[in-house]
Amino acid sequence: MFKALLAVGFAIALTFASAAQTITGQYDCIPAGAYTLCQNLWGEYAGVGSQNSTLISTNGNAVTWQTNWTWANNPNTVKSCASHSFPIASSAPTAWNWTYVTESQGIRADVSYDIWFGKAQSGNPATSASSYEIMIWLSGLGGIQPVGHQILSGLNIAGHTWNLWSGPNSNWQVFSFVISSGEVRNFSADLNEFFQYLIQSQGVASTQYLQAIQVGTEPFVGSASLLTESFAVAVNV
Ligand SMILES: *[C@@H]1O[C@H](CO)[C@@H](O)[C@H](O)[C@H]1NC(C)=O
Ligand SMILES: *[C@@H]1O[C@H](CO)[C@@H](O)[C@H](O)[C@H]1NC(C)=O
Ligand SMILES: *[C@@H]1O[C@H](CO)[C@@H](O)[C@H](O)[C@H]1NC(C)=O
Ligand SMILES: *[C@@H]1O[C@H](CO)[C@@H](O)[C@H](O)[C@H]1NC(C)=O
Repeated sequence: MFKALLAVGFAIALTFASAAQTITGQYDCIPAGAYTLCQNLWGEYAGVGSQNSTLISTNGNAVTWQTNWTWANNPNTVKSCASHSFPIASSAPTAWNWTYVTESQGIRADVSYDIWFGKAQSGNPATSASSYEIMIWLSGLGGIQPVGHQILSGLNIAGHTWNLWSGPNSNWQVFSFVISSGEVRNFSADLNEFFQYLIQSQGVASTQYLQAIQVGTEPFVGSASLLTESFAVAVNV
C-alpha cells in the first residue's frame, strides 16, 4: 500500500518547529507534535508515481498535514500505507476533519483509521505481535474493498452507519468498518465504541492491548491532495 500515516506516539510528546516540512521518501518519518508523520510506500514498485506529505502545523494534541499523491498502474494493488501501548481504552475520543483539496477524476483511494491490537503490551503494527487490525473507512472511492468479505451491514456506531468487513491478513485478523454511503469528512467519535462492539459481538478478547493508532490514506490510482485540517486522538485507560 502507499499509505500516508500519522502514528500516535503514546509515550512521548515532541515539540516541533512551526515551519511546514515535507517528506518525500519511501519510508520517511518526522515528529509531528504528539504524533509521527510517516510515509510507507511499501507498494511503490507496483505502480508509477509519487507521494509527498507535508506537516503544516501542530497545536497541542491537534495536527494539520497534507498528502499529495499521483499513482498509476495496478489499480488493485494498494500502493502506499504511512508506540507504545495500552489496555483497551476506557475511552479514546478522536476528531478528524479532512478534505480533498484537489482530486483527479476516478481516483481509487481510502481515507481511514488503521488501529492495531495485540496480546503483548507493545508491538509494531503489521508484525508477528499483531492480533487484529481494525480499520475505519471514512471514505472509499473508486470501488476499492477492504480485506476479506462483508459480514454485516447497517451497523450503527458513533452516529454513523457502517458495513463490516472481515478476513485474515498474514498472522492477524482484519475488521474494517466501511462508511455505508458517501464520506465523513468531519468525524468525531469515541473509538472505544468500535472496540467494545468487537469485544461484545465479534469475539475479540478484552485482554488485548491497543498497540497503535494510525490514520491516513491508501491511494491506488489517480492524483489527489488530501488535507487534514485537524486530527486529534487521546487514549484514556
Ligand atoms: C500539494 O498540493 C496542493 C494543492 O495542489 C499545493 O498547494 C501544495 O503546494 C502541494 N504540496 C507539495 C509539497 O507539493
Ligand atoms: C513529490 O516530491 C518530488 C520531489 O520533490 C517531486 O518530484 C514529485 O513531483 C512530488 N509528487 C507530488 C505528487 O507532488
Ligand atoms: C465538525 O465537527 C465539530 C465537532 O463535532 C463541530 O464542532 C463542527 O461544527 C463541525 N463542522 C462542520 C462544518 O460540520
Ligand atoms: C476542522 O477542525 C478545526 C479544529 O477543530 C476547526 O477549526 C475547523 O473549522 C474544522 N473544519 C470543518 C470543515 O469543520
